Amino acid sequence: MAYARVTGIGMAVPAKAVSNAYFESIIETTDEWIVSRTGIQTRYHATDQEFTSDLCVKAVKDLVEKFPTSLEDVDMILVATVTPDQPMPSMACRIQFRLDIPNAGALDVYAACAGFAYGLVMAKGLIAGGTHKKIIVIGAETLSKVTDFTDRTSCMLFGDGAGAVLVEASETEQIGASITGASGEGGPDLYLSGFKDNIDGLPLKMTRHIVQNGRRVFKWAVTTVSAEFKNLLEKNNLSMEEIDWFVPHSANLRIIEAICNETGFPMEKVLESIVNFGNTSSASIPIALYNGVISGKVKRGDKILLLGFGGGLAYAGTIITW
Ligand code: UT7
Repeated sequence: MAYARVTGIGMAVPAKAVSNAYFESIIETTDEWIVSRTGIQTRYHATDQEFTSDLCVKAVKDLVEKFPTSLEDVDMILVATVTPDQPMPSMACRIQFRLDIPNAGALDVYAACAGFAYGLVMAKGLIAGGTHKKIIVIGAETLSKVTDFTDRTSCMLFGDGAGAVLVEASETEQIGASITGASGEGGPDLYLSGFKDNIDGLPLKMTRHIVQNGRRVFKWAVTTVSAEFKNLLEKNNLSMEEIDWFVPHSANLRIIEAICNETGFPMEKVLESIVNFGNTSSASIPIALYNGVISGKVKRGDKILLLGFGGGLAYAGTIITW
């Protein structure tokens, strides 16, 4: 069986930073409330002319710049997103075309905030199966395009961004056992509304917005992620002390603190992206990991437990050795 390893990482966010002061100007809120209830200080929003595929392309270019590699022999592109430029073609096909990657299969993963972790699990599986050797996994979103800016309970949470990793066949196993699961009954607690006719019938108008029951998702996240954190350690035969970094999906700093409380894992060993980037859904884990790597915190050989959770409700996780 072939082994797999993460060999490079890149990221991208739009140029436009959006402060909490902006939300003070459009909804009834305060910077103090947003920081104390979510941890978020800033997030980035795409312009009207900027889309998820643009962020994917930038993240892969950043990966190639930081971890030089040829894209010629990439044989699969997996893009985790719930905010593709359009439902079809897939983002993966757009990236294959825009980056001129000649020999790659292309597939989008639709698992919301758990999408990047699902992509990683799938990439490992494809390499273990011997059918693929060099896979790009991207988590990318432009959530600002589906944010309801009149909803004071959610609009300040979301940000846009992309993170990309390269997963390659390797001599040693650097991506461990995984967990995947879903609590589909929680679907109504966090969803993206569907397509609707506009009131005049013509033309068809897209009214897609994120709708969230924050309190319910919060509780589900803390309970599920704490249990799956322990599950992942057991499946990998590792103790908590052997984990150098924990990278949960960055939905809310208080959720992360509650998971650390519940599991006993030290908060200082968490990599998060919520404070500076908001909740970027499938991009939040690779963005947090990227900043850990680029800042020099994460060293080669470190063991990193990744756990994504969110819309579905779905979750997935694994442990990688950097
Ligand atoms: O990424 C996918 C997964 N998503 C998540 O995991 C999100 C999980 N949920 C959350 O992060 C949190 O539930 C929120 C950040 C969405 C909300 O925080 P909360 O601490 O759960 O607030 P709450 O809904 O319990 O509301 C507390 C109070 C309410 O006032 P009262 O009823 O106590 O007087 C709200 O009306 O905060 C009020 N509130 C606000 N106040 C100022 C709600 N939104 C705001 C706001 N500014 N923007």
